[in-house]
Amino acid sequence: CRVLVLISGNGSNLQAIIDGCDDNVDAEVVGVISNKPDAYGLVRAHHAEINTSCVIARKDERRQQYDSRLQQAIEQYQPDLIVLAGFMRILSDEFVSQYIGQMVNIHPSLLPKYAGLHTHQRALDAKDKEHGASVHFVIPELDAGPVILQAKVPVYEDDTVETLSSRVHEQEHAIYPLVVKWFSLNRLKMLENQAYLDDQLI
Ligand code: GRF
Repeated sequence: CRVLVLISGNGSNLQAIIDGCDDNVDAEVVGVISNKPDAYGLVRAHHAEINTSCVIARKDERRQQYDSRLQQAIEQYQPDLIVLAGFMRILSDEFVSQYIGQMVNIHPSLLPKYAGLHTHQRALDAKDKEHGASVHFVIPELDAGPVILQAKVPVYEDDTVETLSSRVHEQEHAIYPLVVKWFSLNRLKMLENQAYLDDQLI
């Protein structure tokens, strides 16, 4: 399974996936694409001898134009699976529609709670007792695709965004490589907007 990872920043999830693929003969990270030239994840990719591309938005560029350049970059890698790992751009419906069932994202909340930004702050503000992360298939609607796997963490009274987000991140690094592994073993499918693992509805 040819895995392509899209990032914008630190790339700690990318690292977890690279490390996970080291132990998985069925999956290989064949490329990393960033929309930010200074993303630390690009350094991680170079260390792992993985090819990288940067697709940087031009001033006043329309979303569709950017997405078509992104698509060209993606096609060079011929991926079976596209993994969004902290890729901080909204993708057009047309773009996403081409990759239904082939593109996954990780979101730092227990979806359907807290789609969008500032999830840790929102969980703290709501005095939630638990929080977490979700891996889901990507559909045009933001953070709304079928959930594949979630990890929960407790929220403590003295938590800050930093302490809570680092607890969530640790879990992200456990669940994302597992989802990549399931996909590479053909165990994971999306059909009619629902996710299946081993032919069982998730
Ligand atoms: C993660 O919190 C992920 O849930 C969100 O972006 C962050 C990426 O972190 N989508 P990293 O770049 O993988 O360290």
